Amino acid sequence: EIERFYEFNITRSQVTRLCSTKNIVNVNGQFPGPEIHLDEGDMLVVKVNNQVPENITLHWHGVFQNRTGWYDGPAYVTQCPIQSGSSYTYKFVIKNQRGTLWWHAHIRWMRATVYGALIIHPRPGSSFPFPAPDAEVPILLGEWWQSDVQAVLNQALASGGGPNVSDAFTINGLPGPLYNCSGNDVYVLDVEQGKTYLLRIINAAMNTDLFFGIANHKLTVVEADASYHQPFETDYIVITPGQTTNVLFTADQTPGQYFMAASAYAAAVPQNPFDNTTTAGIIRYKSSPSSFFSGLPRLPAFNDTRKVVSFNSKLRGLLTEELPTVPVKVDRHLFFTVGLNREDCPRGAPNSSCQGNGGRFVASINNITYVSPRSSILGAYYTNKLMNVFTKDFSTKPPVKFDYTGRPLRNLNSKNGTKARIIPYGSSVQIILQGTSLVNAESHPIHLHGYDFFIVGQGFGNYKKKYEASFNLVDPPLRNTISVPLKGWAAIRLIANNPGVWFMHCHLDIHTTWGLDTVLIVENGEGPLQSIQAPPPDYPRC
Ligand code: C2O
Repeated sequence: EIERFYEFNITRSQVTRLCSTKNIVNVNGQFPGPEIHLDEGDMLVVKVNNQVPENITLHWHGVFQNRTGWYDGPAYVTQCPIQSGSSYTYKFVIKNQRGTLWWHAHIRWMRATVYGALIIHPRPGSSFPFPAPDAEVPILLGEWWQSDVQAVLNQALASGGGPNVSDAFTINGLPGPLYNCSGNDVYVLDVEQGKTYLLRIINAAMNTDLFFGIANHKLTVVEADASYHQPFETDYIVITPGQTTNVLFTADQTPGQYFMAASAYAAAVPQNPFDNTTTAGIIRYKSSPSSFFSGLPRLPAFNDTRKVVSFNSKLRGLLTEELPTVPVKVDRHLFFTVGLNREDCPRGAPNSSCQGNGGRFVASINNITYVSPRSSILGAYYTNKLMNVFTKDFSTKPPVKFDYTGRPLRNLNSKNGTKARIIPYGSSVQIILQGTSLVNAESHPIHLHGYDFFIVGQGFGNYKKKYEASFNLVDPPLRNTISVPLKGWAAIRLIANNPGVWFMHCHLDIHTTWGLDTVLIVENGEGPLQSIQAPPPDYPRC
């Protein structure tokens, strides 16, 4: 086992974008943060020294953490935060996975500026299931606010409404030339005529699904969420927060400069709030004597759900020995509604004083709005001291059956709770994720920690049992984050073979904050989690 050591100092530094300078929290003064590279089978060791006043935790998005849940990172789920002036060393072996993942802070919107690529190369001696590219390039898509992100969050929480939309999308931290005062902040990738490039694309945006494409060039999708998929050619990809997608492209056009660009997808925003907010970078042919400059890539319109469905339907898992096969038989059926709620107006308050249709926004799964506890759920579960931390009664069904995607008859005020669901180790699990229309908003990118899952079906309307007959049990996509379509559903399957305490949540950060979260606990049957490693000596305390 080779050990790869990184030291991450959480610091503050001044960064200027769109002609204004602000102080951001980042790692080692870098924005985006350092790239991590290792081979499948290596042990990753990251010593995090918190040198800022704020609390921090880091999460390794998509890493299984087999029996090392202490290092998973979501605050108050698997650990207490690393407090100012303290350190914590994350230390885990990366097994049975290879591809593009990423790391990000997992506490209170800190991930807006604290994130980076985590690239797992195939084991020495093995290779990609496609011709080796000439070069590999991480493309991190992000979101930039001119004001302090914690202030944006606080303001949203105080008002009960949605947060201010970001001022720019970014490619590798740079907004690109289409924004005012951003002409020099452009990501440029130099390419050579005839060569093939593997772009490792990561959606690190806080609250926005994105389209991405390159003018005049076809993309070949080969991987999603660090699982190989059957290659297919496309002009654009769709990528939701949390997801990664690897694409190949060949520099086979007239030498010149070509735009790459990313723009927002939002299923149900009444008018386009993202108008003209397209982030662009440049693919520049090195040997170029010509001054040819492309137009922008033709990306779908911001609300083109048809293009989203068409892209997702092309994604099929690659049948290779390295990847698991989809469970055909199911032992546990879970049904989770995912969506936003609006609290009722306080009694006597005029509707106008509370957001028109109701009060503050909240979000829920099975109508439970997740409330973060004050200490680590994993710590409490491991030591069997649940009291005052969480309960184990999260329901596998919504409390009321209703027309989830029709016009709601009334708001179902959600109940607050810190609840987890126990799933017996080794069981074969199907989860139906049903979007609700209590508040019509957008698709929800649901991410499960600790696992990849097969997406065996998805569609619009209310889920019906008879749909099971048409599930893809041959080559479904294998991912760690699924976009549950607005007014629609998705069906996922997994084998619960990774004991631990696993956060499951919407990866739109404002929805995470509003409580679109729950916790699944996979037990090994030998008593509470005794088969996982003991907590490390520097495990943070609350
Ligand atoms: Cu990418 Cu719970 O996170």
